[in-house]
Amino acid sequence: MLHDFQSVSTMSVAGEWKTFPSVDVTDVVRLAGVIRRALSGRLGFGPGAVLIAWSQGLAERYAGEGGVVLNLLVIRILLVIDRDLSVHILRQPPSTSTYLPGALKRQAMAFLAPQALTIAHDQEWIQWRAFNEAVLSPGAPHPDRAVFLPRLRAAFEAPCHSLVDLRQRLTVAMLAVVFAGVPGSLSPLVDAGLANDVQRMADLVGQPLRRFLLGPFQGRRRQRIYRALGEAWRASSSHSPAGCLLARAHSAVPTADLAAADLEALLQQLPHWMFTFGGSASLLLGRTVVLLLAQPVLLAQVRAELNAVCGTNGPFTEDQIGRLKLLEACLQETGRLYPPVALTLHHTMVGDVHAGRRLPADTEILQLLGLLQRPLRPSIEASEFQPQRWLEGAGGCPFSNLFLSGARACPGKDLILFVLKTGLAVLLARPQLALPHAVFNGPQWPLCFPDRLIRFAPVS
Ligand code: HEM
Repeated sequence: MLHDFQSVSTMSVAGEWKTFPSVDVTDVVRLAGVIRRALSGRLGFGPGAVLIAWSQGLAERYAGEGGVVLNLLVIRILLVIDRDLSVHILRQPPSTSTYLPGALKRQAMAFLAPQALTIAHDQEWIQWRAFNEAVLSPGAPHPDRAVFLPRLRAAFEAPCHSLVDLRQRLTVAMLAVVFAGVPGSLSPLVDAGLANDVQRMADLVGQPLRRFLLGPFQGRRRQRIYRALGEAWRASSSHSPAGCLLARAHSAVPTADLAAADLEALLQQLPHWMFTFGGSASLLLGRTVVLLLAQPVLLAQVRAELNAVCGTNGPFTEDQIGRLKLLEACLQETGRLYPPVALTLHHTMVGDVHAGRRLPADTEILQLLGLLQRPLRPSIEASEFQPQRWLEGAGGCPFSNLFLSGARACPGKDLILFVLKTGLAVLLARPQLALPHAVFNGPQWPLCFPDRLIRFAPVS
């Protein structure tokens, strides 16, 4: 299928579309060099940093080519190095006639929820996208946020000193938002056990080797999850708890008498609403706290905003949360430099042409968000952390994909920003915390965020 980005001027003399270049021996030698730098400690923080550093080299070498083909042993993947191509792919609804979610992503997510929106396409995607939007209210403040606020405040009351603590707090927040549960009030069906089961399966979705080794033994866990979700759904249809996503979901389905197949697909939308709290949201929250504690001047500005908007013991109202613009900008900027969702995969079955280059049919496409939304440098300059770019009138950042752009942009964005701002406001209102390490104190920050260093010590 041909798209409007076609440019006749970039056709070859023979009148055929150009192809994308492939990595060659020079690139493989460079990869060895990047690995050597990583092993000698000069790159820092694992395979993610190696991948980013190497792909930055590719982006420099093949600048202007749009993408470069990685010939891996069993699969060919097009690595997108150009934002224009990225925007082109992202803006189209997932379809067999344009771009599908990537085959590797479909395989991974199908392990937990084969009919999840994030791997759906064509008619199924349109149907479940509308359902997800009706429940999550993207692009607008969530209608239940006033009901959520006191529950969220309570969830963040307990002290937090690590990523594990933040994950626990956000799991409590998730149970409150999705099921209207507060600890002690949840039905035995929808308790922390269900959250734990979903989180463990979701962790395996993101880890191919562990999924390969442990996946075959997760059948019972999967059955337990869907049995509990099914019972929670049925119980809530007769007595729908007010102010939660489950209640919204009941209003969003056109009929109370769902066919069994539709109910199964509906229940498969729920895990995504759950694991994102303990997954990407915890990482974004933890990374933001670390970057704020590492920058005392900015932290003081954020605290001043909190004081001015919420007073000493707030936040008390959803309107106050809405006015915490600098706090939100810090979350956005952290996510631009250190995106918790590190990559996105697409697949074209039919092929495409973009800016005069032909994407062959049956191509898997990789977009590394840490490559596309930062300048090409071997480390991040601390001075690059500029939350001001997100404040009103500053124009934001045209190339941030923290929540993805285009047709499949995250429908939970506004809801989770509300949750995270409330959490941060409560955390930062407490007595001071400090970082027990100096990784972010210098002028240069690592390419990948060292999540094991998300630890905060109370100031003595
Ligand atoms: C900080 C937390 C979050 C981040 C960084 C985030 C980011 C993203 C990104 C990057 C995608 C696109 C993934 C891809 O296609 O490869 C996505 C999709 C999605 N997100 Fe989020 N998300 C977050 C929280 C949430 C929450 C809390 C919910 C629901 C309650 C949610 C629901 C979804 C859904 C349903 C999709 C699939 C959309 C579609 O394919 O049409 N997300 N999110």
